[in-house]
Amino acid sequence: MNSNHEYPVAQRLAGTVCVVTGAARGIGMAIAERFAAEGGRIACFDVSDRRLEPAVAELVARGIDARGYTADVSRRDAVAKAFEAVERDFGAPVGVLVNNAVWARFQPLAEVDEECVGRMFDVGLKALIWTMQAAVPQMKRRGSGAIINLSSTSALQAMPNAIGYAAMKAGVLGITRAAAVELSPHRIRVNTIIPGMIGTPASIAQFDDATMSARLSTMPMGRFGEPHEIAAVAAFLASDDSRYVQGAALVADGGWTVATH
Ligand SMILES: NC(=O)c1ccc[n+]([C@@H]2O[C@H](COP(=O)([O-])OP(=O)(O)OC[C@H]3O[C@@H](n4cnc5c(N)ncnc54)[C@H](O)[C@@H]3O)[C@@H](O)[C@H]2O)c1
Repeated sequence: MNSNHEYPVAQRLAGTVCVVTGAARGIGMAIAERFAAEGGRIACFDVSDRRLEPAVAELVARGIDARGYTADVSRRDAVAKAFEAVERDFGAPVGVLVNNAVWARFQPLAEVDEECVGRMFDVGLKALIWTMQAAVPQMKRRGSGAIINLSSTSALQAMPNAIGYAAMKAGVLGITRAAAVELSPHRIRVNTIIPGMIGTPASIAQFDDATMSARLSTMPMGRFGEPHEIAAVAAFLASDDSRYVQGAALVADGGWTVATH
């Protein structure tokens, strides 16, 4: 848990039911914590029971209005059922949706196989369509909504062995823009966050020491981002502070993509 920093006292999400996918760890968990600190009521979705149960138990123990929903977001029927359960359990329609869950494999072109690339696209792209299909009717009944999709700097700059991941994260930008235009008349905003390298256990595990220092040397701020720094951007996009931000892609990468390496 990223509880070693101060949150502002603003209650920008007071009473709002917020769904965060992939909330059992990493950036998703930090977003759940930040939204709760802003007064949100949090529905944590994850495919992993093993990770989700203790994560939600810890939030609840801290007095946070959070519930866990075990669901594979790539399955349309499972997503629809989970959203029905959220509205029933919280007694109010969903106002904020964060598509954060990811299943990623980094492979050289020659080794990219159907199973891996299919799973990556199912969890990283199709799932966004299924969650939006389930969330939008609730947001329409509520009168407004905010949807935030997590992309990556891999959509903007190339890295080796990332063809599938780059395609998936570039697709997130397209889905966001198309949905933003379609859903604007319903007062539903759809935006993307493009994080750079963020220090989560999963991301750090990819690197040995030498690769880590090489990577850090290309970063203007000389450090990875923290999950709570992405959560702060998500809170802005979820709140009325961003009421005129629509279809945008907000880069939070410590200047990595604007630097000449
Ligand atoms: N960590 C980084 O450096 C970084 C950088 C750029 C973008 N991002 C993006 O931010 C998001 C979060 O990244 P992270 O590093 O915290 O990820 P992570 O791997 O730590 O957590 C992802 C969570 O998603 C869950 N998940 C996987 N498949 C699922 C499914 N089918 N249904 C429901 N839940 C599922 C996992 O169980 C896990 O709890 C991702 O979209 C990622 O691509 C991360």
